[in-house]
Amino acid sequence: MSIIGAPINRVDAWAKVSGSARYSAEHPVDNLAHAVMVTSTVPNGRITRIDAGEAEGVPGVLYIMTHENALRLPQETKEGKVSPPIGRVLSLLQDDQVHYNNQPIAVVVAETFEAAREAAARLRIEYERTPAQLDFEAAKQHTHPPEKVLTQKPDTQRGDLQAGLLSGSARIDVSYRTPVENHNPIEPHATIAAWDGDHLTLYDSTQYMKGVQRTVAGTLGIPEEKVTALCPYVGGGFGCKGSVWSHVVLAAMAAKGAGRPVKLVLDRNQMFGPVGARPVTDQRMRLAAMLDGRLTATAHDTVAYTSMIEDWIEPCGLMTRMMYEVPNEETTHRLARMNLGTPTFMRAPGEASGSFALESSMDELACELGIDPLQLRLQNYTERDPGKDLPFSSKSLRQCYEVGAERFGWSRRNPQPRSMRAGNKLVGWGMATCTYPTNRSKGAASATIDADGMVVVRSSTQDLGTGTYTVMTQVAAEALGLPVERVRFELGDSRLPEAPVSGGSTTVASVAPAVKAAAHALKLKLVGIAVADERSPLHGALADEVEIDGGRLFLRGDASKGESMTDIVVRHGGAAIEARAEADPGDASKKYSMHAFGAVFVEVHVDEALGTVRVPRVVGAYGVGKLMNAKTGHSQLMGGIVFGLGMALFEETVFDLRDGRAVNGNLAEYHVPVNADIGSIEVEVVEEDDPHVNPLGAKGIGEIGITGVAAAVANAVYHATGKRIRELPITLDKLL
Ligand code: MOS
Repeated sequence: MSIIGAPINRVDAWAKVSGSARYSAEHPVDNLAHAVMVTSTVPNGRITRIDAGEAEGVPGVLYIMTHENALRLPQETKEGKVSPPIGRVLSLLQDDQVHYNNQPIAVVVAETFEAAREAAARLRIEYERTPAQLDFEAAKQHTHPPEKVLTQKPDTQRGDLQAGLLSGSARIDVSYRTPVENHNPIEPHATIAAWDGDHLTLYDSTQYMKGVQRTVAGTLGIPEEKVTALCPYVGGGFGCKGSVWSHVVLAAMAAKGAGRPVKLVLDRNQMFGPVGARPVTDQRMRLAAMLDGRLTATAHDTVAYTSMIEDWIEPCGLMTRMMYEVPNEETTHRLARMNLGTPTFMRAPGEASGSFALESSMDELACELGIDPLQLRLQNYTERDPGKDLPFSSKSLRQCYEVGAERFGWSRRNPQPRSMRAGNKLVGWGMATCTYPTNRSKGAASATIDADGMVVVRSSTQDLGTGTYTVMTQVAAEALGLPVERVRFELGDSRLPEAPVSGGSTTVASVAPAVKAAAHALKLKLVGIAVADERSPLHGALADEVEIDGGRLFLRGDASKGESMTDIVVRHGGAAIEARAEADPGDASKKYSMHAFGAVFVEVHVDEALGTVRVPRVVGAYGVGKLMNAKTGHSQLMGGIVFGLGMALFEETVFDLRDGRAVNGNLAEYHVPVNADIGSIEVEVVEEDDPHVNPLGAKGIGEIGITGVAAAVANAVYHATGKRIRELPITLDKLL
């Protein structure tokens, strides 16, 4: 059995369960001081006065950083905003302006966390308030298009929408709403900043080592090599740790100001505003189809909010551009400004929220036409991406529909709403299509073998808890013909070979090819040494004839002629031998549209008297190319479905319309699913061979699991109750 794909345990499992895995706030640093971030309590205006007298009197206080004394940053523009190289606008105490409630406005550093917290509470801050835009309905009256929607245009048009809408025998025109959702990884954002002369070391919980290094260096105006970012373990990210937020730079500034290393950990409430969220989306869907279900037109118009200081758009319409065969189509994206923190990528940004609208509207259309919802999807199946006008690199969606429907028992569904019951509960069955793009960036890795025969492979990538350590170990072990125990993978260090952000489900696709190439380069290096060495049994052999397995290099056809890799290292002087490689995506994405696909089927039980929705059963079937590890892969897809159930039924950040503060900014009142909310989840992965996506043939699986789930739940709720819920989450008040 090949190592790649095998359901091996996480190689970091022992470190995790024994507590020896260190998260960002847990690294021991000498002489460490503790920082607490202070945030605004008004949504708009300016700070008129900060009285620090009482705070300074708290024993142990070392330094209080406000806009009045904070380090002046070099990239200050006339608006007083800092523009780091990646184009973010952060709150770095360069002015007195407040743009949203919970915006960072000061940092208190003290000998202990308790002293810092007490002093933070004793800061007296006065504001001059100005009216704030906190009402999405009002904000929506003035929108502007974003510059881009990821890499695509905000608006697209194909065929003649009006003619297409008119020529359909059935039409729907409905709007869907998704709420603000916050990522809430269990490990909060945390940064330890330590200066050694002009060198800055940052232990930072991040999805992007190199991003931390570059953004912080760029913002402080120091050379990149003067910043080292470290993060061996991440306790969840889901997108909010994909870019550098204010606290990371503030920690570095505070450490400089205090003349001490500082640790700054966000509290849970501070994760509702300053570190991104999925924004509210309003999505109008217009669909028309002929009596047989063939779509004649689709239009998907998205309005989402962004902050007053930056543009960030939830890319809801991208899935609609590629999912179904439809001759006439329009998609638009618009932004409305609000006095809230800048939104950001949140697990399956666009596809998670967009699939709620698209796949709910397909269900509504199916009901309108009296066609089975799955049949409607098949009727509009496309083998080509109609938006990009490219073939798919691979697409196994038909198999996903088949396998998922079969496992779920879809054929036994009575299409009539309110027709199925279990005891006093209404039973509903719903389904939806899932997809997520297969992205890839350039990656690099090194592979080193030492005289003990241990191979260490390194790349500056990240493991968000997803299995990067494990999967990369598998890739290197397989390429070198070694058991996984003889390979160690190292990541989470910006000094290692360059790797991209762990976002967009790209880590395996981008880093694994580099790991494979580095392993191959190491093999070639060892072969080169052996064939040139008279003392080697392989002396004089052609490199092409040398194979590798079980820790040995040997001649093809005559395994007795060979030697162990360790022997080569030892004879070569005993010093470790290293090889490096880069892997580039090339131009495959110009020739193919690359997506993972899936289908999700959900059963809900609704108690009509109470309005409660339970989900006893979910079946998801996915085509994701090569699954790298059957165990961690299965867990990731299942975790995505759980995230989707949270989106469907629980998650919503509620803001106070007077002050713009999240009123449920804690895990007691911001509800995420717990074990008691989850029933049976079956995950099926269909066989899929994709020669185009990357040399491993693996599509990203970090995000597809969440897509489609909210729509499938809403569709099931409709089937159970006859009530169409177009606004997430589907809470009992909407069903009563
Ligand atoms: Mo993910 S939202 O692309 O980190």
